[in-house]
Amino acid sequence: MKHLLSTADLSKQDAVLLLDTAAQMAATQSREMKKLPTLRGRTVVNLFYEDSTRTRISFETAAKRLSADVINFSAKGSSVSKGESLKDTALTLHAMGADAVVVRHQASGAPHMLAHAGWLDAAVVNAGDGMHQHPTQALLDAFTIRRHLVGSGSDEGTAGRDLAGLRVAIVGDVLHSRVARSNVRLLHTLGAEVTMVAPPTLLPVGIESWPCRVSFHLDETLERTKPDAVMMLRVQRERMSGGAGGAFFPSVQEYSRKFGLGSQRLGMLADHAIVMHPGPMNRGLEISAEAADHPRSVIVEQVANGVAVRMAALYLLLAGDERNTL
Ligand code: CP
Repeated sequence: MKHLLSTADLSKQDAVLLLDTAAQMAATQSREMKKLPTLRGRTVVNLFYEDSTRTRISFETAAKRLSADVINFSAKGSSVSKGESLKDTALTLHAMGADAVVVRHQASGAPHMLAHAGWLDAAVVNAGDGMHQHPTQALLDAFTIRRHLVGSGSDEGTAGRDLAGLRVAIVGDVLHSRVARSNVRLLHTLGAEVTMVAPPTLLPVGIESWPCRVSFHLDETLERTKPDAVMMLRVQRERMSGGAGGAFFPSVQEYSRKFGLGSQRLGMLADHAIVMHPGPMNRGLEISAEAADHPRSVIVEQVANGVAVRMAALYLLLAGDERNTL
């Protein structure tokens, strides 16, 4: 595989290879010499048309730790504001010799276009496109789940392992979530059972064809399914009609009461269960401050694991011809 565009493109073998490589990368990060020479002389461009904190910084960190040259491009302050097209931006990056382009774009399908239109001769990594996909987020989520809930809890104990038999509840604004779409495919490929929990107005048309169960009731799901991991989704009010929620969203109080994770619901979780959130969080809406900062929360660890997972993705895409490839 030359690009990483969607978790739907990953076989179980690809996904486990990515997770195992990420574990090896994580091991290098705990040693004194964090920097590896692997991508010396290669250029990684971070092409961000939408805002980001975690994804952009961790791709930059990952590329630098592999000794690549990194160019950060943000649409704000670039010639995009003068009307430059994606094609002309891509041709410019090609002229500058980009080996990999990490792209976040508000339009679903933009990374696919960059990868396949013939404008670039570079590996394209999707860092989030519209409501479509965010594959490295799902990979870092799977990596975090595997580290906590599979084998002995050590990376050696998890090598080669999938997520068979684990139950994951993904809760909240599924409709607008590329994180949910990426996770459902990857978790299913890795053998986990997924339940999407949301009000009917925050579920997409066609969810019946997704490889998951669907529930409108969080308490019932927690009681009946006993999930090993609960992944809370950000309520994306900026993507809702009128920008404030419109018809999708009941009220902050009602949403929080029915679908928020707070102290009472924390008490319903199994002792080993972990609490996840891709960030950024709306504290007090989909997750309380107590739940976000609770010892069961692995939210900060998810961010740290993102660096190892993105190192693995860049390594396998750019240096994989010498080793195993995606
Ligand atoms: N999870 C995630 O994609 O966060 P950012 O928008 O900060 O990159």
